[in-house]
Amino acid sequence: MGFDSLRPNAPNPQLGFGAGLRAEHYQDVLDDRHSFDWFEAISENYMDSGGRPLHVLQRVRSEHPIALHGVSLSIGSTDPLDRDYLRRLRSLIDRIEPALVTDHLCWCGVEGNALYDLLPLPYTEEALAHVADRVAQVQDALGGRILLENPSTYVAFAHSTIAEHEFLAELARRADCGILLDVNNVYVTAENLALDPVEYIDGIPPDRVGQFHLAGFTDMGTYLFDTHSAPVDDQVWDLYRYACNRFPGVPTLVEWDADIPPLDRLCDEVERARRERAAALGPGPRKHAEPQRNTATDRA
Ligand SMILES: [Fe+2]
Repeated sequence: MGFDSLRPNAPNPQLGFGAGLRAEHYQDVLDDRHSFDWFEAISENYMDSGGRPLHVLQRVRSEHPIALHGVSLSIGSTDPLDRDYLRRLRSLIDRIEPALVTDHLCWCGVEGNALYDLLPLPYTEEALAHVADRVAQVQDALGGRILLENPSTYVAFAHSTIAEHEFLAELARRADCGILLDVNNVYVTAENLALDPVEYIDGIPPDRVGQFHLAGFTDMGTYLFDTHSAPVDDQVWDLYRYACNRFPGVPTLVEWDADIPPLDRLCDEVERARRERAAALGPGPRKHAEPQRNTATDRA
């Protein structure tokens, strides 16, 4: 299964349940002390390294499918696309033959200045045309279809005219790309901006979703902060079961990037994802999970 499987109209790879590959777990993973079906690797951590990280990734790849997840494509920036970055990513893709190649719906800098963050876009027709054109260029450069992830959002642009889920859906249609649906990000954004997470998920076209993310946030009192430093919240599990019904068969990935626990604890979280999806889908008639509808909150 390679990046070629992401060409338009190719079947969605049925990867199962995986976890982010992190240096803290390299040895346990190499010793096969895990129950994951696949791994997600941060592309930038392996693009310029010929050392141990790439060696580990290649050994893991010899046993498991890999998704390459980028954090600096900056698809929404007004800077020209970084052709050198795309060449280096293409080289990693050719070497690893990933099942999925993903990045974020965001911008990461402007006028050559990297801001090292995933910053939100205004959701307008102008931005939609801009990003759709760039996604098409990226897919040409990489030789396959990418998935873009919905961001965690803390503020909204006053001049946005399109809901985020509508923007993503139309972007996927126009650019013929896929969507990485981060269920935790949907929940965090919905809580922070007083949106309805169920309406968000209902607005995402099922044939475009190629992967789920799950992660834990931190409740900062006045807002939720997408820290990836905690177990998945119960409200997010509710939303995940709902998403499993709308997008059956989509592979799931658990992210845990700060306060990283021992691998056993991460295995527990991934096994819970298996159980939650099984509970959502059967046996018998599909059970319709009932995630919390929003509801204006005092965070908005
Ligand atoms: Fe994510």
